Parts: sequence; C-alpha cells; structure tokens
Amino acid sequence: MARSPNPVLIAPSILAADFARLGEEVEAIIAAGADWVHIDVMDGHFVPNLTIGPDVVKALRPATDRPFDVHLMVAPVDPWIARFAEAGADIITVHVESGPHLHRSLQTVAATGRRVGVTLNPGTPVEALRPVIGMVDMVLLMSVNPGFGGQAFIPEAVGRVAAVRAMAGDQPLRIEVDGGVQPETIGALAAAGADTFVAGSAVFRGGRACYGANIRALREAAAG
Ligand code: DX5
Ligand code: ZN
Repeated sequence: MARSPNPVLIAPSILAADFARLGEEVEAIIAAGADWVHIDVMDGHFVPNLTIGPDVVKALRPATDRPFDVHLMVAPVDPWIARFAEAGADIITVHVESGPHLHRSLQTVAATGRRVGVTLNPGTPVEALRPVIGMVDMVLLMSVNPGFGGQAFIPEAVGRVAAVRAMAGDQPLRIEVDGGVQPETIGALAAAGADTFVAGSAVFRGGRACYGANIRALREAAAG
C-alpha cells in the first residue's frame, strides 16, 4: 500500500449543514479550516433523496473562493454538467453508474474547463475506472450507498482505495472517499492512498463551536 503524493484535503459535505443558514455554514467551515466545500446533488431518481440544484450553488458562490466540489448523483447527468459549471463548481464528479456513456460525460465535464471527477458506488468493480482513469483529476470512492448522510462506513472501501492508487501508478490522481469518514476510519483510508476526505456528520456535529476541532481531529487522524 502507498500513501498519496498529494497533501490531505478535508471537504465537509454541506448535506449535514443547517439548510436554513447555508451561506453562513459555508463561511463557518472555511473559517474552521476546511479546504473544499463538498456539495451533494441528488435527483430523487438516481438516489432516493432530493437536495441541491444549480441556483443554490450559484447563491453560495460568493461565500468563499475555496473550491466547490460538486458530486452529481443525477441520471441522466450530461444536461446538468454545464449548468453546475456556470453556477460555480470547480470540480465536477459524475457516477460511473449514471448512464451508458461515461466517457462522453467525462468529456463534457472536461469541456467546461472544470476539474474532472469520476465516482463509483460501493457495489461497482474498480475495474470500471480503467478505461477512463487517464481522463480524470480525481476518483471518488463511495464508502456508503449514496443518498443520505450519517450512514455506517463500508470497510471494503479501504482495499478499493489501495486498488485505485495502484491503478493510478505515476498519475498524481486525487482519491477522495465519501461516506462514514470519521477520525476512526480516516487513518486506514489515508494509509491506503486516499488524500481527499468528504465528511458530513464528522464535521458538523456539535454545532459551529465544534467545527474547528472536528476538522483538526480528522486531519490528525489522517496524518497517522
Ligand atoms: C452521501 C453523500 C455524502 C454524505 C456523507 O450520498 O454523498 O457526501 O453527505 O455524509 P457522512 O459523512 O455523514 O457519512
Ligand atoms: Zn458526496
């Protein structure tokens, strides 16, 4: 197993934020030391939940100049890619499972000039990445079934991270993990080669006074 060559980044998922105060919540996590803002877009079809559309992303854009990491759980996905790019996404991640034309979807993201991410559900073989890995800046491995925050971590994600890090070879790919990332699970993920960590409940629990300590605890546990 090999650690990532890239610095560790913490990307709080605003799915766990107070939706009545979303702009203030984004400012609070950045002030507390977050690197990226992870935005979960769900369509009620690809996943059994409905969340955030491009107008919300646009409304949040002035809150920070940190990267917006937009995770699209939407099918079909292609019609939404330019909309989220225009709204202010910096990294746009699409699911392997969201349609039959993954390669075209990744080309569509690349054409926007935004960073390209691809993601896999826990039940999809990592081999599905091999034909497209050279096209992407980041692989996101889901460590829960997407749709909701606060679910239990699926431990097979650790071995899947190691497999993707080996597949990436010399490519300085970011490997992000999403779902059940906690101080108790992040160390093994970092040791296996992940470098970018989405965390909803682990960052937002306890309210704003705790965000700084919550993010520090994740960073320290990732450092090993
Ligand atoms: C799940 C989302 C995650 C979720 C993670 O579908 O993609 O980003 O918010 O939440 P936690 O960290 O609470 O598991
Ligand atoms: Zn997510």
